[in-house]
Amino acid sequence: MTETTTGPVLHTRFTETFGVDHPIVQGGMQWVGRAELVAAVANAGALGCLTMLTQPTPEALVKEIARTRDLTDRPFGVNFTILPSISPPPYAEYRDAIIESGITIVETAGNAPTEHVEVFRPAGVKVIHKCTSVRHAVKAQELGVDAVSIDGFECAGHPGEDDVTGLVLIPLTAQRLDIPVIASGGIADARGLVAALALGADAVNMGTRFLCTVESPVHHQVKEAIVAATERDTELIFRPLRNTARVASNSVSREVVARLEEGAVFEDVRHLVAGARGKQVYEVGDTDLGIWSVGQSQGLVHDIPTVAELVDRILGEAGDIISGRLAAMTRTSI
Ligand SMILES: Cc1cc2nc3c(=O)[nH]c(=O)nc-3n(C[C@H](O)[C@H](O)[C@H](O)COP(=O)(O)O)c2cc1C
Repeated sequence: MTETTTGPVLHTRFTETFGVDHPIVQGGMQWVGRAELVAAVANAGALGCLTMLTQPTPEALVKEIARTRDLTDRPFGVNFTILPSISPPPYAEYRDAIIESGITIVETAGNAPTEHVEVFRPAGVKVIHKCTSVRHAVKAQELGVDAVSIDGFECAGHPGEDDVTGLVLIPLTAQRLDIPVIASGGIADARGLVAALALGADAVNMGTRFLCTVESPVHHQVKEAIVAATERDTELIFRPLRNTARVASNSVSREVVARLEEGAVFEDVRHLVAGARGKQVYEVGDTDLGIWSVGQSQGLVHDIPTVAELVDRILGEAGDIISGRLAAMTRTSI
């Protein structure tokens, strides 16, 4: 059941704190973070996260956790996305289901996780809070989280409103925090991993790259579209509403951008951005059916490997960069 990678081992504060072999995280992905992908990531020695809100009820999440455990005996986490909502999902019930299922790692994202951290940590659950600014990272550390995942402007999903890229955000966050930092956004290969470690991070988080793997439970045509796309093929929707999201560029996302720029309000585009339409993209494989998240890092994605092949390749190439290219640069000249 367990596939171990053959690449070099990179020990960091992240691997120590979370008890996984490699400093690589597969963060929350709506409709994608299901048992098949998460178990494959865990079996490859990295940290996979189920996506809580992909499951319609806390009971369904409990079943998905059990399904993942049937596929792996390694640790995995659950993404706990806290959305601003008029009728929010039953967060406290999901939280209790996670604790009762014996999950020991949670990735929170979105709104401040204050009330949830206060329950998770005494229950023995380690919390990684994902955010998009240094000030929110500092606040999360003050709340007592175990690690911060810092998402740069390149990322898929919600990059925040500051538009600061990882090259600046990662070292600034690492400098301000005492807890492990996970670099997120724009990372899809060994070069990104080594760069993130050099910038002060203890691990990397990848969404887009894991979306485009064999075990990712989305239609093959979506994966082929990612391989064909370039780094320029994303749109930033909801900018005027200050709830920016980076998504694939298609007829729907371009229409949303255009209509909001012309002064439309959310109600005018609600039918275009409905989650059910985005879900259909993954099921049917028609990438123009709705809104789906993808990052600029799709420009770095050129194939559809298994998760084990991907993790293996990243670690192998990271070793080559560190002990080959970089080591050669440090030789003293005579
Ligand atoms: C298809 C997809 C769905 C995502 N859904 C979520 C989500 O529900 N919650 C969340 O916290 N992050 C979500 N993200 C963001 C990722 O967890 C991660 O932060 C981001 O993908 C990093 O940027 P990258 O795609 O360049 O690796 C999603 C990303 C993708 C690609």
